[in-house]
Amino acid sequence: MIKRVQSWLGREERQQPVDISPDNIPRHVAIIMDGNGRWAKRLGLPRIVGHQNGMKAVKRAAIAADELGIEYLTMYAFSTENWKRPKEEVDFLMRLPEEFLAIELDELIEKNVRVRVMGDSEALPSYTRKAMDEAVLRTQHNTGLILNFALNYGGRKEIEDCMRSLGKDIAAGHLAPEQITAELIDSRLLSGGLPDPDLLIRTSGEMRLSNFMLWQLAYSELWFTDIYWPEFGKEHLLQAVAEYQRRTRRYGGLK
Ligand code: FPP
Repeated sequence: MIKRVQSWLGREERQQPVDISPDNIPRHVAIIMDGNGRWAKRLGLPRIVGHQNGMKAVKRAAIAADELGIEYLTMYAFSTENWKRPKEEVDFLMRLPEEFLAIELDELIEKNVRVRVMGDSEALPSYTRKAMDEAVLRTQHNTGLILNFALNYGGRKEIEDCMRSLGKDIAAGHLAPEQITAELIDSRLLSGGLPDPDLLIRTSGEMRLSNFMLWQLAYSELWFTDIYWPEFGKEHLLQAVAEYQRRTRRYGGLK
């Protein structure tokens, strides 16, 4: 059954209806939020204004994902490589979770959203860690959308850490090499407990993974858009899901 979701859209978008089947909603959507800097530059504004507006798009995406019935939404908020940026920009990005949660946490709780974080939290400033810890704690019993922030996250580091942990278990005699399975690896990744993303979205026209969920994205459907992240709204999520529903997933087999 196809459900027409025109009513969600503004008048302009209503001219291009998006058909979404409620039976084939991706369970897990992952997003590489790219283009904050270019969005700001286009408007003659400092890059940090782009990040500030990117934060507002995080809220729009989370609300839209929740309304659509998506179960897990993973947002790439800061990579292990983003430390290479100018200190001023890194400092600003590290303050964003605190600001985002101060403004939005109550509404997220009201909407039954559960916040999760994956990444190396040790290296984060204490105020960033504190904000995220509090959000995780205060939403731990919620049963709605899981909003998973990848913060100081790197796919290769995640795999490296997993290998090290398996190696230690083997060296200690707790694990035989033959016991290493895809499921065991899954369980030791930072995304442990989450299904693999069904759909990956990347904004800003770039078409690369940038060290994001390298193991977990093996069979995800990829959707790229030229719009910059601060412009992202529910109409774009709907477009991505509609395109996802037109794809045939074969996982290397035949239809
Ligand atoms: C990439 O755009 C974006 C980032 C490195 C940061 C993404 C962070 C947010 C959208 C805000 C996160 C909010 C919370 C609540 C944690 P870019 O700056 O690389 O853009 P450019 O390629 O145009 O320069």
